[in-house]
Amino acid sequence: MSASRQFAIVTGASSGIGRELAKVCAREGFDLLIAADEPEIETAATEIRALGATVEIVLADLSTLAGVDRLVDVANRIGRPVDALLANAGRGLGHGFLDQDFAQARHVIDTNITGTVYLVHRIGNDMRHRNAGRIMIVGSIAGFVPGSFQAVYNGTKAFLDSFSFALREELRDSAVTVTCLMPGATETRFFERAGMLDTGVGVARKDSAADVARTGFDAMMRGDGDIVSGLKNRIQSAVAQIIPAGFLARQHRKYAEPGSARS
Ligand SMILES: NC(=O)c1ccc[n+]([C@@H]2O[C@H](COP(=O)([O-])OP(=O)(O)OC[C@H]3O[C@@H](n4cnc5c(N)ncnc54)[C@H](OP(=O)(O)O)[C@@H]3O)[C@@H](O)[C@H]2O)c1
Repeated sequence: MSASRQFAIVTGASSGIGRELAKVCAREGFDLLIAADEPEIETAATEIRALGATVEIVLADLSTLAGVDRLVDVANRIGRPVDALLANAGRGLGHGFLDQDFAQARHVIDTNITGTVYLVHRIGNDMRHRNAGRIMIVGSIAGFVPGSFQAVYNGTKAFLDSFSFALREELRDSAVTVTCLMPGATETRFFERAGMLDTGVGVARKDSAADVARTGFDAMMRGDGDIVSGLKNRIQSAVAQIIPAGFLARQHRKYAEPGSARS
């Protein structure tokens, strides 16, 4: 690995926003350790190496503490200080909560919340010790809205949005920055995997993952606290903060309820 390049960890880099984040990092001078839990990560690594970065991969289920430990072990073996941690891996899950398979709902919570905060705890402590480093947490504008028919997912993103601001404040006197990237609906495999292709939001036109990643990366490098990608999403998230939660939950039904794609 080149000594002049910085070193970043990107989770969930096999597809979607994470893959694009890893590509921006590579173009902007970072070598990478990328993680996901399916072998497709190999194809992503090949694509990212072509951009001039050294790329190591870890296959790990980041919903488990053991999976996060495996990722951190590989980072420790590489032995380079982590200049940037982009905690992006996450999953959605559609349908009414009581109709969901509880194991899947729990997997969403374990991936989006437990795995993310454990990884941030482990790498964040090293960063605080060195008094250097950037953390990006991928939350969502979904965190501002009680997500009927996506209730667990939106709850996990509300947690991450909140957690990110709180951690940033705790690190105010250090040189470690925490940035929460809050995308709106983005064109990735997310809605297919969440079983939401028959919903209004599933079929709607969405933001480009490459644009979202660039916006998020730039915000992280500036050390901003949060970034909502896209003007429409910025307006939506600002409005959501002054509208009663019950009304937001009712609105969410219109585009997240199974079958809403046809209505
Ligand atoms: N798409 C949207 O509309 C949207 C909007 C706001 C926020 N977000 C957030 O953006 C992030 C990326 O999502 P995306 O839209 O890019 O979806 P995606 O295309 O499905 O990508 C998700 C990535 O996370 C990885 N991942 C998921 N669960 C994992 C686990 N347990 N262990 C390891 N890796 C895991 C996946 O790896 P494998 O393929 O190996 O499972 C994949 O690389 C998520 O946090 C999501 O909540 C998405």
